[in-house]
Amino acid sequence: MSAAKPIGVFDSGIGGLTVVRALLKELPHENIVYFGDTARVPYGPKSPQVVREYALQDTEVLLQHNPKLIVIACNTVSAVALDVVQKRAKVPVVGVILPGAEAAVKASRKKRVGVIGTLGTVRSNAYTNAIRQLDESVQTFGQACPLFVPLAEEGWTDHKATELIAKEYLFPLTLEKIDTLVLGCTHYPLLKAVIGKIFHDNIVLIDSGEATAVSVKRMLEESGLRNTSTMKPRLQFFVSDVPHKFSEVGERFLGQKLGKVQRVGGFSA
Ligand code: DGL
Repeated sequence: MSAAKPIGVFDSGIGGLTVVRALLKELPHENIVYFGDTARVPYGPKSPQVVREYALQDTEVLLQHNPKLIVIACNTVSAVALDVVQKRAKVPVVGVILPGAEAAVKASRKKRVGVIGTLGTVRSNAYTNAIRQLDESVQTFGQACPLFVPLAEEGWTDHKATELIAKEYLFPLTLEKIDTLVLGCTHYPLLKAVIGKIFHDNIVLIDSGEATAVSVKRMLEESGLRNTSTMKPRLQFFVSDVPHKFSEVGERFLGQKLGKVQRVGGFSA
């Protein structure tokens, strides 16, 4: 198995680019192939059965590029479909839930952790279960924040409307005296400032993408699969629809220009 092979990353759409950003920070020389299912996004409101079906199809796209490891950047997919992807892939598969849960348990002094995400992620209780397995004395408080996804994509990261919506969603969590909050969705790191403000910046925000990147780095090192090349990595982006929009909006999520984005056919809503 060659260390030069790419890391495969997939997501329901554009949000997974925040995870790619975190990966590039930890592992600046890794080649990456990304697939975003922009034809069928969002996955958040969909049933676990449909998300599992979609996740397998997304995995097939990545497997054509012969990755050495697959990262499921999407929290919703990681929450309900990690097992099916692991079974299919035959290479190591990392989801964002366990790394995010580990970081939260480590950070929380009061053992009171909030978890925000899509409806699918919060309903699945995946973060709660993972946190409880690590430390059963930690109490968790979940809240779905579905409107954060379109707001982040619109770039309304410091808009009055976003502040109002954030207040509405997060008020119940402010009453629970949490000291740590898991940003359990690919889009939420873009809203860190607005979210932090609701808690008077008195809380640890866990970026599950960043925690995942650290965990991927450790896995690659332990298995001798880390790319030791010092060359600029090859980044390839594939989507199932509207590549030009992905390229435009994606720049804000990735923190750099994306270059060419290619469309993969055969995906329809
Ligand atoms: N990528 C999804 C997640 O992290 C958010 C967007 C969606 O609902 O598909 O859960």
